[in-house]
Amino acid sequence: MRKIRVNRSDLVYPIFVDERAQKPMPIESMPEYFRLPIEYVIKEVQQMIDLNIKALILFGVPSKKDETGSQAFATDGVIQRTIRELKREFGDQIVIMTDICLCEYTTHGHCGIVKDGEVDNDSTLKILEKVAVSQAQAGADIVAPSAMMDGQVKAIRDALDDSGFNHLGIMAYSAKYSSCFYGPFREAAESKPEFGDRKSYQMDYGNLNEALREVELDIREGADIVMIKPALPYLDLIYRVKAKFEIPLAAYNVSGEYTLVKAAAQKGWIDEKSAILEILTSIKRAGADLIITYFAKDVGKWID
Ligand code: PBG
Repeated sequence: MRKIRVNRSDLVYPIFVDERAQKPMPIESMPEYFRLPIEYVIKEVQQMIDLNIKALILFGVPSKKDETGSQAFATDGVIQRTIRELKREFGDQIVIMTDICLCEYTTHGHCGIVKDGEVDNDSTLKILEKVAVSQAQAGADIVAPSAMMDGQVKAIRDALDDSGFNHLGIMAYSAKYSSCFYGPFREAAESKPEFGDRKSYQMDYGNLNEALREVELDIREGADIVMIKPALPYLDLIYRVKAKFEIPLAAYNVSGEYTLVKAAAQKGWIDEKSAILEILTSIKRAGADLIITYFAKDVGKWID
């Protein structure tokens, strides 16, 4: 009588590419997860394909950072090079999604351009457009704006269309909460803000209406998929968005959610496989069509 089952095709696997790494680098706060040099990304993706997981999302750690995050849109940037290599190797066997944000690429660690100590929305949009177009030129299939700047989906849609990429999809990080559960990711991507926090652009977790408004705006601006992030503490929002809007919905089971399970499992306090399947099934049951999860490969090994 079971109605909801997690399938391989529901899953998107996040991969961190580190331009400085010579070998896989363990991430202390994400047990059994690594930052990879480009050659290893190819191996990792081959393993994904062997497990029949087809979608991945890339995050880059550049070897140099600056005030404007210029490595995020450089033709030979770490992500652009990775996309080219992956497409050369695997072509259409995989769907490559890319994160559009500046926090991994800026010296101050904020998701946008900083002016007078504040993140400046509109000048950031210009940079995000360049990031999107450079990723599209490299061969990305779906771009995922995650900087939470107002108007970013429309700006990126227009920039892609003007550059001949009107077929490219946009998965918008529409409802991205200012969450402590991104902590391990920030260690992995070295993207912790140097000063202040992200509360001026990410959302407050005490608010649900704002999230619904953000989703609606992104749909009007041209999003093809909307995303809610994190997943587990926001199952109510996933359910509401699914009920209210007829659009593909993704949920990001973020780094902190991964770490909670791994840490407890390492201590022998919970059964890892059962916990993972129960959690991912709950996210799907709430209404998510896609789940971005660091567990994707593990799940690919167990489910039949
Ligand atoms: C970039 C970005 C973040 C995550 C995905 N894209 C970090 C943040 O907003 O600080 C977090 C993902 C995770 O925790 O797994 N802005």
